[in-house]
Amino acid sequence: MPRLPLPLTRKQPRRYGSQAPGSGKAMTQPQHKDVVDVLLEQHQQIKSLFDRIATAEGKQKQELFYDLVRLLAVHESAEEQIVHPEARRAIGEDGERVVDARLQEEARAKRVLSDLYDLGVDHPDFGARLAAFAHDVVEHATHEEQEEFPRLRERVDPDKLYRLASVFEAAEQIAPTRPHPAAGESAAANLLLGPPVAVFDRIRDALRSG
Ligand SMILES: [Fe+2]
Ligand SMILES: [Fe+2]
Repeated sequence: MPRLPLPLTRKQPRRYGSQAPGSGKAMTQPQHKDVVDVLLEQHQQIKSLFDRIATAEGKQKQELFYDLVRLLAVHESAEEQIVHPEARRAIGEDGERVVDARLQEEARAKRVLSDLYDLGVDHPDFGARLAAFAHDVVEHATHEEQEEFPRLRERVDPDKLYRLASVFEAAEQIAPTRPHPAAGESAAANLLLGPPVAVFDRIRDALRSG
């Protein structure tokens, strides 16, 4: 019988938003999101980008596809470096199966994304292949949301989940999804245009050294 997904309830952290004794001031900035909130938000952003690419044309379609490459690179690399190892520890014996299956899906997604990049957004087959890829990525995200994230919320200290959110958001700074020349487009953002394998590698290396 299939296991019912656990509820994605969030526990409150012990420290954040508390008052320093006698000061009347908050000791730390209240942190509103834990790492699971950040992951769920990114899943929504990924789904919405797939929809926008499907209906865009020309230069806009190309730019949105680059956005997708960067967002997937940030999201999946940060999951590989930060979230899956935590889940493997937290889930216990079953964690090996759950995490290994997710890593295989992510490796396959990276290959398909590279194929789409090589094909190019103007190729007549691009739309159909993007739709098949979107289906697989959404299925992968659903597996994470049902099998992995609820167990993180259940078994990892809430304070740690809030701390991991900031690490995760720092990863997003490495690869802004929408670089804008007027906002001082960084050399880093330009470096993050290109073949998906190279973009994934740069973000993974930055996360490891950060
Ligand atoms: Fe993932
Ligand atoms: Fe994910």
